[in-house]
Amino acid sequence: MYMRIEQDFSLLQYNTFGMKAVARCFVEYSSVAELQQFLRSCSSDEQILQIGGGSNLLFTHPLFEGTVLHSAIQGIEVVEEEEESICLKVGAGMIWDEFVAYVVAHGWGGAENLSLIPGEVGASAIQNIGAYGVEAKDIISKVYTINRNDYSERIFNNEDCNYGYRSSIFKNSLKNQYIVTHVSYELRKHPILNLSYGNISAAFGANEEITLQKVRDHIIRIRQEKLPDPKVLGNAGSYFMNPIVPYELFDALKNDYPTIPSYPAEAGVKIPAAWLIQQTGWKGRELGRAAVYEKQPLVLVNTGDAEAIDIIQLANAVIFAVEKQFAIRLKPEVIYV
Ligand code: EPU
Repeated sequence: MYMRIEQDFSLLQYNTFGMKAVARCFVEYSSVAELQQFLRSCSSDEQILQIGGGSNLLFTHPLFEGTVLHSAIQGIEVVEEEEESICLKVGAGMIWDEFVAYVVAHGWGGAENLSLIPGEVGASAIQNIGAYGVEAKDIISKVYTINRNDYSERIFNNEDCNYGYRSSIFKNSLKNQYIVTHVSYELRKHPILNLSYGNISAAFGANEEITLQKVRDHIIRIRQEKLPDPKVLGNAGSYFMNPIVPYELFDALKNDYPTIPSYPAEAGVKIPAAWLIQQTGWKGRELGRAAVYEKQPLVLVNTGDAEAIDIIQLANAVIFAVEKQFAIRLKPEVIYV
């Protein structure tokens, strides 16, 4: 066991936007006991920020005055196995895509559409990450946490987490109260593939035997084609959420824009923000040291040495343009620190 403790620590490697922020203190723990030990030693007014892979954060200040916590809890453990399913308990610090690669290699289905999403296992349960018609909530069984105030353990069942589109109880009523240490996922031993999103199925021949590995490879290919590699161009994936609008507004828009794409959603219609942004003419445009990514306008990129202000000014310009044209206010998916 070890606990890594650093002072005045550069967060450059811990935020995919590539902001040059520094944390007054940085602590990395590798077990539940270490996390509890750290929390006990902390004064109650210490500002704590738990991060995962830093792939959905924008540090808006060059200095974070408190402690940035990072989980190095690793490991995959089988907790239950049945005829049709297997349940795995995974450390929150494991890189998400390494988990996906592992289960795909074992032939266990459910996570393959979530291939190559950046970030770590802990964040998958808080953020309810999603792609290509699948969300983390579809496979999450339990979320193991530590209460930040009394250091006790609490296990949330899937239903306790109030999952919604990129949202959970951990982002709302229980925000900053629990630290996720492990997540268990239930996967299928006889996979049922989900190829309904977009034209994923078109990638395969009519009589082709489609394996989990082939789906994973295909998803990786589409993501690499459409999404910028943060090592080359700093970014945090989708910057905005896809807005869900009331039926009346959608009908009015459909009149003016007959080709507007849409997906059914809870209590309304989901419209791809990428489409809205493209209509405003912002796709591919630069402002300061930030740009709207040319291949996927939902993504804002750091064109080199950007500060948070560059990204925020660009985001505001996009929000303003979309609101002016469509009366829809885009909401950032990225979390401002
Ligand atoms: N579109 C355009 N112009 C573009 C790109 C897309 O009009 O340049 C429209 C098209 O109508 C297209 C639709 O947007 O059919 C959807 O595009 P895409 O399949 O690329 O997905 P998205 O809705 O833009 C969401 C997630 C992504 C996820 C993809 C695939 C959100 C905020 N984003 O994007 O998640 O990978 O679906 O499932 O829900 C992330 O969260 O970081 C992320 C990348």
